[in-house]
Amino acid sequence: MTERIVLAYSGGLDTSVAIGWIGEATGAEVIAVAVDVGQGGESLETIRQRALGCGAVEAYVADASDEFANEYCMPALKANALYQGHYPLVSAISRPVIVKHLVKAAREFGATTVAHGCTGKGNDQVRFEVGIQTLGPDLKCIAPVRDLALTRDKAIAFAEEKGLPIETTKKNPYSIDQNVWGRAVETGYLEDIWNAPTKDIYDYTATPEFPPAPDEVIISFEAGIPVAIDGVKVTPLQAIKELNRRAGAQGVGRIDVVEDRLVGIKSREIYEAPGAMALITAHKHLEDITVEREQARFKATVGQRWSELVYDGQWFSPLKRSLDAFIEDTQRYVSGDIRMTLHGGQAIVNGRRSETSLYDFDLATYDTGDTFDQSMARGFIELWGMSAKVASKRDLRVDGK
Ligand code: ARG
Repeated sequence: MTERIVLAYSGGLDTSVAIGWIGEATGAEVIAVAVDVGQGGESLETIRQRALGCGAVEAYVADASDEFANEYCMPALKANALYQGHYPLVSAISRPVIVKHLVKAAREFGATTVAHGCTGKGNDQVRFEVGIQTLGPDLKCIAPVRDLALTRDKAIAFAEEKGLPIETTKKNPYSIDQNVWGRAVETGYLEDIWNAPTKDIYDYTATPEFPPAPDEVIISFEAGIPVAIDGVKVTPLQAIKELNRRAGAQGVGRIDVVEDRLVGIKSREIYEAPGAMALITAHKHLEDITVEREQARFKATVGQRWSELVYDGQWFSPLKRSLDAFIEDTQRYVSGDIRMTLHGGQAIVNGRRSETSLYDFDLATYDTGDTFDQSMARGFIELWGMSAKVASKRDLRVDGK
C-alpha cells in the first residue's frame, strides 16, 4: 500500500507546493488538513478545493474556531498569559489544536507521517513535532521546507511549472500567522530592529493616533470566562470577536517586541491582539478584587511559567497540566463585571463590581464608618520588621556598618 502523509495545509504558496513536492520526494500520497482557528480570509471550501487542485488525494477541513476559543484561548486568559510580559501566545496556542486535528486525520486516513510547512529556525516546528510525539508517538514528522530543501524560489518555480492553482506573483515580504486570538508579523523590513513598523503591517487594529470617540464596554465574567458584553450573552469565541472589532477600531493591542525564541535566537515580532489584550486587562482587574493576596502573588509566577511552557511547545506536558489545575482553582470566584474605556490604543479599566469581591468598603474607607482598628498596626509593624532589625544589629556588631 502507498504510504500516506498528512500535511498541515494553510492554503498559501508554500504548503500548496509542498503537496506535490512531498509526493515527488517520497512517493507518498498527501492528505491536506486545514484547520479553522478563526484566521478569517478564504472559506474552508475554497482551501479544500485548492488542496485537491494541487494534487492532494484527500482534503480534510476542520472548523475548530469554538474549540480553539474554549479550550485554548480561555486557559490563556485565565493564566493572563503574556510571554516575556508582552506576547499573548497567539501562534503558540494554535499549534496544539492544529496538532490534535492532524493526528485525528492521520488516524482516519491511515497516514504514518505528519508534515508541516515550518522552517528550521522557529518555534512552530517544535510545537508541531513535540505535540505530535505526544498525541501520536508512532507517527513520523517531516518538514519539506526544512528537510526537503523546499525554498521560496523553488516553490514559485514548481508552482509555475506544474500550473498549480495558486498565486505566485504576489510578493509579501512578511511571514504572517493569524487566528482569532491575534496576528503575528515577522521578517522583511522588520528584521532591522530600529525600523518602526509601517502602517500596512496592521490588519486587526486601526491607527490609534486617529481614534473614533471613546468606546465604553462592560465585560461580565463567570469563573474567569467572559460570558456577556454590555449585558448581551456571548460565547468565548463571540467575546473575542466582538472585542477584536471594538478594541481593534481603537488601536488597542499593538505589540512590538524582540523575543527569545526556543531555538536560541532573538527575533523581532509585531503582534496585534485587540480582543486578547482587552480581555486579559479586564480579567486581571477582576482578579485584583476577587483573588486573595497570597494566591494572587503566587498565581502571577505560575502564569509566567505557564506562558513559557506553552511558548516552548509543552502544551501537552504533565507540568502544564498541573499548572492548569492550580490556575483553574484560582478562578472559582473570578466572577463579576469590569467596565473599561477603549480609546487611543489603550484599554483602561474604570469600574468593577462583583458578588464575590474581597474588597471591603468598611475596611478601606478613610471616612466615618471605618471598621479597621488602627491601633493594631503598631504591634504588627514591630513584629514584621523584627527579623531584619535583628540582622541589622548583627551586621553592625560584626562589620561595623
Ligand atoms: N514568534 C511567534 C511565536 O513563536 C510567532 C510565530 C508566528 N509564525 C509565523 N509564521 N509568523 O509564537
